[in-house]
Amino acid sequence: MRLLELSPRLRAVAGLVPPGARLADVGTDHAYLPVCLIQRGVIPGAIASDLRPGPLERARATLERYGITQGQIQLRLCDGLAGIRPEEADAVTIAGMGGETIAAILAAAPWTRQGSRSLILQPMSAQEDLRRWLGENGYIIEREVLSREGETLYLALLARPGSMPSMTPAQLWAGRQERGQEEPLRLAYLEHLLGRARRAAEGLGRSSRPGDAARLEEMRPVMDGLTEMMEEWKAWQR
Ligand SMILES: C[S@@+](CC[C@H](N)C(=O)[O-])C[C@H]1O[C@@H](n2cnc3c(N)ncnc32)[C@H](O)[C@@H]1O
Repeated sequence: MRLLELSPRLRAVAGLVPPGARLADVGTDHAYLPVCLIQRGVIPGAIASDLRPGPLERARATLERYGITQGQIQLRLCDGLAGIRPEEADAVTIAGMGGETIAAILAAAPWTRQGSRSLILQPMSAQEDLRRWLGENGYIIEREVLSREGETLYLALLARPGSMPSMTPAQLWAGRQERGQEEPLRLAYLEHLLGRARRAAEGLGRSSRPGDAARLEEMRPVMDGLTEMMEEWKAWQR
């Protein structure tokens, strides 16, 4: 049987799924992630859900193509985790969606804040909002992993129910960094974020809209913190 190969982005997500987990893959679309994990024996089975019938049809086609039964992967049409019971999943993946959508899906399922559940989240936008939301709503970020496809860097993070120490503005943008952390793309990520913060600050500096001066002030600790993180990271690599 042909093995399904994941893109670097989804491979990073797959690498954070605990072996043996009963997985719920929310917003599965083609169901590539659960199919790959089952084929490789990482997980015994999964629920693959999506909000729309079209993506679930694509998921069904992937199952057929790779010889996976609907006993191994149950397909569910539902919004977020609304059609999945807490006892059915000890790991949840939500990948390829905006950070706000991911937060809304978790907010609507308070059971994701209980037990020792693994939540593997891959936001395509609003990463800082998602980190803040997780910290304020009873989750702790345990690991962050970066991947690259072409010029684009992607973040995947592993969160669990827990109490997270508060983060500085720069940590909300870039996550925490620790000495000894293995992350070959960390410097490129910090450079990318600092460029984005500087462009945002330049725009705010030119603006005369009410509130933008205050927003510019909020950007300063972000830029300073990101610059310090870059210096610290470089020093650790020497
Ligand atoms: C860009 S695809 C990502 C597919 C796959 N998870 C990945 O990372 O490659 C986003 C999928 O999420 C689904 N989706 C969006 N909002 C959702 C929600 N609230 N609940 C379930 N699925 C949702 C969309 O229908 C779409 O199939």
